[in-house]
Amino acid sequence: MEFMDNCYIGIDIGGMSIKGVVISPEGNILAENSVVTGVEGGKEQVCANIVWLVNELRKAVDDYKPIGIGIGCPGIIDSKNGVVVFAANLNFNNVPLAHMVGEQVGLPVRMTNDANAAALGEATFGAGKIYRNSVLVTLGTGVGGGIIIDDCLFEGFKSAGAEIGHMIIVKDGLPCTCGNRGCFEAYSSASAIIKKTAEEMKAHPESAMWKTYTPETVNGKTAFEYWDSDQTAADVLEWYLDHLAVGLVNLANIFRPQVIMIGGGISKEGDRLVNPLQKRVDAMLFAGSDYAPVKVVKATLGNQAGAFGAAALVM
Ligand code: BGC
Repeated sequence: MEFMDNCYIGIDIGGMSIKGVVISPEGNILAENSVVTGVEGGKEQVCANIVWLVNELRKAVDDYKPIGIGIGCPGIIDSKNGVVVFAANLNFNNVPLAHMVGEQVGLPVRMTNDANAAALGEATFGAGKIYRNSVLVTLGTGVGGGIIIDDCLFEGFKSAGAEIGHMIIVKDGLPCTCGNRGCFEAYSSASAIIKKTAEEMKAHPESAMWKTYTPETVNGKTAFEYWDSDQTAADVLEWYLDHLAVGLVNLANIFRPQVIMIGGGISKEGDRLVNPLQKRVDAMLFAGSDYAPVKVVKATLGNQAGAFGAAALVM
């Protein structure tokens, strides 16, 4: 029988798309692909999309032997049993996703929370590699968190912790998809900046953003694009960065990590996002930043962190 190298499949479920990678034992990417999440089709559709993606990835690396599949999924994940206990952004309650996918692809499946997977990816292969204490904050459809303490992933009781997006930063504040009000996510996710930009455009017909966007077509980059040339865009960003920094300082004061890594779609803004955040965090950090500084950096694996970390789960 011909000898085949092993490979590991990592799947990252996002609100909009599902990304997949196949990695070698050395951590090199052998194949990658993605598919729409299809939340509106319910759990069967999401599962069917994952299965399609896995099959495509396997076809792309048919010289390799897949050992297993790791899945990172938003929400509270019972990682022991591979069950999505609660995921507001996917509308999932007690979905035995690992079993549903495993049954159809005939490979072992392990699961964890998407941001935990991304933190694992960054800590193993990316921006967190040189630190023993790091926090990853993902700014996407939701706000996710992965907390690494002394080189170990902190998941909390029954792996239900590290839900940093649902720390309340404004009492009786904006409604969140989770049912509460004032959550960090309601102010700092990509969805939050999109909503705020659209609202401010409607309130400011003079805004230059109208030149290329309507409230229906704005995206997470719109305000950044017009930051230097439009007061409304600058006000949106002031609001966004101020709230985001409050959440980051809370995390910094609780965990005092060496680094806070910013991931997710919004992190593509790079220094334009990270530098003003660093300033705000330094200004508010308990006891100042001389003794135990907290760096704010862009996560380096980009939108592959989650899939990478998920694959690392089955390595
Ligand atoms: C969920 C988290 C998830 C994050 C990013 C939040 O709304 O509660 O579990 O990690 O979104 O997807």
